[in-house]
Amino acid sequence: MKELKIETTLYVYDALSDLDNDVQDLMAHAVQAREKAYAPYSKFFVGTALLLDNGEIITGSNQENASYPSGLCAERTAIYYAGAKYPEAQIISMAVTAASQLNKTIAPIPPCGACRQAIAEYEVKQESPIKIYFMGETGAVAVSNSLANLLPLLFDKAYL
Ligand code: THU
Repeated sequence: MKELKIETTLYVYDALSDLDNDVQDLMAHAVQAREKAYAPYSKFFVGTALLLDNGEIITGSNQENASYPSGLCAERTAIYYAGAKYPEAQIISMAVTAASQLNKTIAPIPPCGACRQAIAEYEVKQESPIKIYFMGETGAVAVSNSLANLLPLLFDKAYL
């Protein structure tokens, strides 16, 4: 038996204003997307913006459904749209913001496990890291230089 220890690294900034202008701009797109979220059941509104290497910014928001599992998270809405519209493009970075009508989100809200797996697929496909910035409605911003940092032991095509 051997013990396997896994370390990961994130960077946390106190506020969005501590990051570069291009990141602030990407997050502003995520906020705009969040404001268009369809979340009548959870009242939890998530927006995502992806920057592609062709200069395009693709946004998405969570889309809920009366049949709850039929809804989709913001991150997957955006990443699948990017994959469908620009299959050859690489995703450079991704901004995520979440706000709730029930309480103020001040901590960075990370992508859920299913979204991490979906993002991982594209990071593996493009063979270059996707940088991820995530935050609540306000407050600190967490930065991961690669999706891999958010999903140790990821399952990918190498196992198939
Ligand atoms: N949600 C996202 O859009 N992204 C995540 O990473 C976590 C959760 C959405 C799904 C659902 O519409 C609502 O937030 C509450 O879970």
